[in-house]
Amino acid sequence: MADAPRPRKRILSGMRPTGRLHLGNLVGALWNWRMLQDEYDCFFMIADYHALMSEYEKPAGIRDNCREVLIDFIACGLDPGRSVIFRQSDVPEHAELHLILSCYTPISWLERNPTYKEQMEQLTSKDIHNYSFLGYPVLQTADIVIYRANLVPVGEDQLPHLELAREVVRRFNHLMGREALVEPQAKLTASPRLLGLDRRKMSKSYGNQIDIADPPDVIRKKVMSMITDPLRIRVADPGHPEDCNVCQYYKVFDPSAHDDVADKCRNSKWGCTDCKRHLAEVLSTLLAEPRAKRAELEAHPEQLHAILAEGARKAQAAAREVLNDVKALTGLGKM
Ligand code: TRP
Ligand code: SF4
Repeated sequence: MADAPRPRKRILSGMRPTGRLHLGNLVGALWNWRMLQDEYDCFFMIADYHALMSEYEKPAGIRDNCREVLIDFIACGLDPGRSVIFRQSDVPEHAELHLILSCYTPISWLERNPTYKEQMEQLTSKDIHNYSFLGYPVLQTADIVIYRANLVPVGEDQLPHLELAREVVRRFNHLMGREALVEPQAKLTASPRLLGLDRRKMSKSYGNQIDIADPPDVIRKKVMSMITDPLRIRVADPGHPEDCNVCQYYKVFDPSAHDDVADKCRNSKWGCTDCKRHLAEVLSTLLAEPRAKRAELEAHPEQLHAILAEGARKAQAAAREVLNDVKALTGLGKM
């Protein structure tokens, strides 16, 4: 007799809704998330409570940004038929578990969190000296454990948060005397590093990004502004494709053309303008399908509402189970 199929491992990941997503998000997260759907039971979350922690002064944009992120999620192949796609604040159980877990989180663990220290020093444009901001990773822990997620696909910058989540889970389980919460693990996936147009990290705050939603004329204008090999001024100057950001984009978005591009560059068979014009076409073609899906969703907001309603329903059902268990263990609720 064949073995009973083992239940699939569960994945949760999330993104803060700060606006439309860009190629960095596509390459660094969405391509990977889309693939994970084949193998895992996936929960993908739009983390609007987390957005509020830094955007509280001007929160009006959060709701629109949630919509943009949702559209980008679906346009890039996250499938609401297979995965639970939801908005964090639609499942207030996260907030309740956050409060309970905060009792099990020593302040010193939060204060030594490198992300916190870094943001406090670097994020001078926003006042983040708030109670909630210190507890950012506690809410993130609640996000994960409330679904008993085994694996959390995140970038390296999030590893300290995952480590903290594991520590909180161990502390809670130890004090409760049983494995009530599942200890999650980070799932790091090697993804190509994509720099922005100016070769700094791609980020909206630098304004150096290409959005998934950008139409062909905008893509072309942006690609034309990319910094290339500074030593190549005339076509006759042999180029150094390995040092050129444009060539890196070929590697990521049109790998089969990469060698040919590098050869044409090194041997002066084409100029940078030709090279970029062609890259703009490659990107426009690649983004044509997401762009079409985007247009369809924008024309049918009722589809977006239905996706969020269904996501909230499924997420909440799963979250309630864990929260009820935790409340029973911690003496809360029911007499
Ligand atoms: N902190 C994550 C980020 O900034 C977003 C996030 C919130 C998240 N909750 C999460 C990621 C839970 C993974 C799991 O990218
Ligand atoms: Fe870069 Fe292309 Fe110019 Fe070579 S030809 S330097 S790869 S833009």
